[in-house]
Amino acid sequence: MGTAHNEAKPGQIAKAVLMPGDPLRAKYIAETYLEKPFQFNTVRNMFGYTGFYKGKQVSVMGGGMGMPSIGIYSYELYHNYSVDLIIRIGSAGSISENVNLMDIVLAQGACTDSNYAYQFGLPGSFAPIADFQTLEQAAAEARAIGIEPCVGNVVSSDVFYNEYPDVNQKWADMGALCIEMETAALYMNAAKAKKKALAMLTISDHLFKDEHLSADDRRTSFSQMMEIALNTAISSI
Ligand code: HPA
Repeated sequence: MGTAHNEAKPGQIAKAVLMPGDPLRAKYIAETYLEKPFQFNTVRNMFGYTGFYKGKQVSVMGGGMGMPSIGIYSYELYHNYSVDLIIRIGSAGSISENVNLMDIVLAQGACTDSNYAYQFGLPGSFAPIADFQTLEQAAAEARAIGIEPCVGNVVSSDVFYNEYPDVNQKWADMGALCIEMETAALYMNAAKAKKKALAMLTISDHLFKDEHLSADDRRTSFSQMMEIALNTAISSI
């Protein structure tokens, strides 16, 4: 039975799902990397596909922008579709001297300015973290294709057009590597569902150096990250 946001039937979604923000990137990944891709979702144009990579079943589905959006889609994948692992593949803006355009960040942890954790009623703040095994595997897959990943804390913000961008410096002072908008919700959902998650981020902007990739680059130039994500996904199955 489907959900309000996903019309896939039971069994149509693989145990491991790659989740870009942009549903057209999901389509591109399915058509470029997967054999026999089958589209399981068109609701709200949040396209999802299942296919085969190196003989193993993998799915790829858009997650949208922001914590509420990825919160909905990841929750349903974990709880309604028995998905074990979600790998977010996205972009982020660097706030670190050591993290440059096109670098790949593996989000070991995700700080946030969002109130998403409020729902869990905890007597303190929660530290959203990646699944360690998946993180280790992704680092190994990156090195296998000659890329040294940047591993550390990221910031999942509710705000893209920040009225007071000075706050980014405060996160940088705490050692956070980059700003994006989804990972903390994904990691919290995974924790609550007792499932696995990892976010892999390509740096599309440097927020302190005013450097940016073009929109076309954002959609098409992440082939290295996709290869790392796909190989990490199939090794988890
Ligand atoms: N802020 C938030 N999310 C992002 C950014 C940014 O600067 N760049 C890419 N994703």
